[in-house]
Amino acid sequence: MSDKPKLIIDCDPGQDDAINLIMALAGDEFDILGITTVAGNVGLKKVTRNARLICELTGYERAMIFAGASKPLKLPLATAEFIHGKEGLDGIEIFEPALPIVSMEASDFIVEALSAANEKSITLVVTGPMTNIARALQKVPNIVGAIKEIVLMGGAFREGGNMTPSAEFNIYVDPHAAQIVFDCAAPKIVFGLDVTYQVLTGADVIERIEAIDNPVAKAALGILKSYERTDTARFNDQVAPLHDPCTMAYLLKPEIFKLKACNIQVEVDAELTRGHTAVDFWNRTELPKNSLWAYEADRDMFFDLLIDRLKLYGS
Ligand code: BDR
Ligand code: CA
Repeated sequence: MSDKPKLIIDCDPGQDDAINLIMALAGDEFDILGITTVAGNVGLKKVTRNARLICELTGYERAMIFAGASKPLKLPLATAEFIHGKEGLDGIEIFEPALPIVSMEASDFIVEALSAANEKSITLVVTGPMTNIARALQKVPNIVGAIKEIVLMGGAFREGGNMTPSAEFNIYVDPHAAQIVFDCAAPKIVFGLDVTYQVLTGADVIERIEAIDNPVAKAALGILKSYERTDTARFNDQVAPLHDPCTMAYLLKPEIFKLKACNIQVEVDAELTRGHTAVDFWNRTELPKNSLWAYEADRDMFFDLLIDRLKLYGS
């Protein structure tokens, strides 16, 4: 049996989810039990196709890919084609991958994998709306004991929102699921916009990736260049925040980030602030600290890591 960290990657690729997968699959550090998909950036069919496509592109042919929720727990699905493009993966050529989808629903797979696992042995990496994880926890609550930690991208505290004035996309799409996850007993490490907006690409990064001569780095370059067009109003520049790759960067090199234990609650019902994360950074409440909130990232270290991962792919 492998003694590598065991991961389940739950995602909605998505350009930055794709970069996160590329980072994860570059080396051999992890035992990836499954990649589960959830409707988010685009609909379920496309995000699942995109996950398969990225696995095929990286040569990760043994991928076990499970399709999950096609909509949030209670709300209609909101998507982000305006960022990631119609197919959810602007910047590379889209093809129909041969890699199959496993015929088990994603939350059932999560339940099955955690039920069979030792205490605190599986890390969940979550880079989309948290519907699949919430559904698994609702189905069999005691699976929580087998979760080592949930490393997730979502939320905002100092930075406002990117979907509404106060809400970040993943939490906005399924706030009910997010609250279930924040309420669960597993340790949570949370990468919100406060840190993802500290790891912005830019001409320096693009130049370094352009110099890497392998097909996966070329694909990453295409994705990143196209991804850079979306936040120009916010930054007045051609840059892109690498939201989801913060999760993998943390698992590979935790010293990139500074974390603080906080209570995090989600606004679920409010009309104006739906999906807002109330991060109790300054201990204004007596609520238990249910998460580690990332508040600072070392940009140089982050991009050195990304470049190193891309160089690992052979020509
Ligand atoms: C999150 O929203 C999605 O569009 C990205 O893939 C990322 O997971 C950032 O708010
Ligand atoms: Ca995502």
